[in-house]
Amino acid sequence: MAFQHPSFGNISDDRVIIFDTTLRDGEQSPGFSMNLEEKLRMAHALSNLGVDVIEAGFPVASKDDFESVRRIAEEVRGSVICGLARSGGKRDIESCGEALKGAERARIHNFISTSPLHMKYKLRMEPETVLEIIASGNQKARQYTDDVEWSAEDGSRTEPDFLCRCVEIAIKNGATTINIPDTVGFATPEEMRRIFAMLIERVPGADQVIFSSHNHNDLGLAVANTLASVEGGARQIECTINGIGERAGNAALEEITMALRTRHDQYGKVTGIDTPKLLSVSRMLATITGFDVQPNKAIVGRNAFAHESGIHQDGILKNAATYEIMTPESVGWNKTSLVMGKHSGRAAFKDKLAQLGYPPLEDEALNAAFARFKDLADSKKIVFDEDIRALVDDESRDHDR
Ligand code: KIV
Ligand code: ZN
Repeated sequence: MAFQHPSFGNISDDRVIIFDTTLRDGEQSPGFSMNLEEKLRMAHALSNLGVDVIEAGFPVASKDDFESVRRIAEEVRGSVICGLARSGGKRDIESCGEALKGAERARIHNFISTSPLHMKYKLRMEPETVLEIIASGNQKARQYTDDVEWSAEDGSRTEPDFLCRCVEIAIKNGATTINIPDTVGFATPEEMRRIFAMLIERVPGADQVIFSSHNHNDLGLAVANTLASVEGGARQIECTINGIGERAGNAALEEITMALRTRHDQYGKVTGIDTPKLLSVSRMLATITGFDVQPNKAIVGRNAFAHESGIHQDGILKNAATYEIMTPESVGWNKTSLVMGKHSGRAAFKDKLAQLGYPPLEDEALNAAFARFKDLADSKKIVFDEDIRALVDDESRDHDR
């Protein structure tokens, strides 16, 4: 019998669920905290973007966290609203259930560490106790909602046989999504792919749940690890806008979405993300947090569709596909930008003059203006439209004298 997800029903094989944790894992990074009104704005924007599950916060962590999960659950429609809880926390699951009461569709996400290192030093618990907590945590969560996610914290560093036992117990006790985090960003893509393939092959009941991948970026591998997990059979991806999150961050939603879309030939998966909205949601988060993305950030950085070298500009003017693998419009930019600088060529300069409304110049006048532009570009990082206007106007005044 095909698996019926409690929130999404019969999900087609090629569909990947996007679980956004900007408001929980993202907000946990130093300096990125948001107030209630900012979280509500972000949650509405995420739902409008087509995010399937919004992790709105960790209700037991503070009064403010509880209140923001409660308000998001009451006001935001379209996405599943999720709250985080420790599987064995004293009041975590109750608090989560309470905060999510008003949601159209609610998910409780409970977690406990499963790696030898975390069990011994952080939890100070025997593996058998961890197994008991997994069972009781998932049972308890099911009392509030049919949509229960369980995470093996530090899952990528967990001993494989034990991880299989944990997952089996989580499924038997009501989890409908199983998330394997690479909590410390240590895994490689091939390791993540193998973990999912192993769990899906070995764990009884694996065909009755959705497997999910959650990757941190300590080695800059979060997006690669996420994509490899999809190849291994993960069908939910956990990510954040602009890749914000603990330490070096989480896998970036905009990068994963566009990698799946641009390389559909490789992954064969689709998401529900309305990609032309990616840039505006990225900008909204940057404005709220006060942290802009770096200029060379994939998809949403200001240089992502900007070209300065003469050879590239010439190629772009002939056919944009020469140097662009997706259109700027597909992720929310107005158009490609040909940045005028010392690497720009004559073709881009001529194109720029036409854009600025100048009639075509005779060859001689164009050569003279281009030579002045090059001199100016040598002394300036970026040559702005006003600089070009000034030098062409000067050139024609000199010519008229
Ligand atoms: O990175 C992690 O392990 C987490 C879990 C709580 C899912 O964020
Ligand atoms: Zn995390």
